[in-house]
Amino acid sequence: MSPPMVETRQLTRLYPGGVEALRGVDITIGTGEFVAIVGRSGSGKSTLLNILGGIDAPTGGFVSIRGKMLDYTNRKALIAHRRTTVGFVFQQFNLIPSLTARENVEYPLLFSYRPASERRKKAEVLLATVGLAGRASHYPGQLSGGEQQRVAIARALVSDAPLILADEPTGNLDSATSGEIFSLLRSLNKEKGVTLIVVTHERELADYADRTIGMKDGRVVA
Ligand SMILES: Nc1ncnc2c1ncn2[C@@H]1O[C@H](COP(=O)(O)OP(=O)(O)OP(=O)(O)O)[C@@H](O)[C@H]1O
Ligand SMILES: [Mg+2]
Repeated sequence: MSPPMVETRQLTRLYPGGVEALRGVDITIGTGEFVAIVGRSGSGKSTLLNILGGIDAPTGGFVSIRGKMLDYTNRKALIAHRRTTVGFVFQQFNLIPSLTARENVEYPLLFSYRPASERRKKAEVLLATVGLAGRASHYPGQLSGGEQQRVAIARALVSDAPLILADEPTGNLDSATSGEIFSLLRSLNKEKGVTLIVVTHERELADYADRTIGMKDGRVVA
């Protein structure tokens, strides 16, 4: 049997000042799963996601990705993890305003030594996948919030990362648009087999996922 995509054991994160953001988190997420993480503000959801993505480090416990322990003391390994294994989607979209939709999607590939024509083609295919074929030359300021988030999702997929981490991706969107974004995530999960871990405040949106992990005060609750 192949190892799970993500496994954490007794994960803790103690912030300087004494806040225990994570207090022993054990989760196992299989390859191809779509998991929603829900919980009140301050329960540790973003902290957990940031640690899984290698942009923060735990103060105790461990994370393993596809059976391999992530070494948070190894800078090179963390950079490789961020570049090749995970794709991030944030609440504020985080697109570069001076780049077009296509250039934003291509951006992560600039470090991959692939020919420009191939990068461009790949970005165009992904923009079409998220329903934005006609918007490739638009700048973020010329797109609606939902469209900007679609661009950010395409960007998260461009490196063929097997694991997508999304932190309240619809927190800035109205409920109809939020539903559309979650349907899109659902279809990408089914069609491309990417593993999705999505933080959301909204219970109805969690219904799009295969499974919900609840968090409270830095712990996983049933
Ligand atoms: N850099 C930091 N330094 C100190 N404490 C922090 C830091 N980042 C987060 N915390 C604290 O850790 C706890 C968990 O924060 P986290 O951002 O993970 O919560 P969250 O579940 O994502 O909340 P929200 O739903 O509001 O985004 C909170 O009590 C927060 O104040
Ligand atoms: Mg958060």
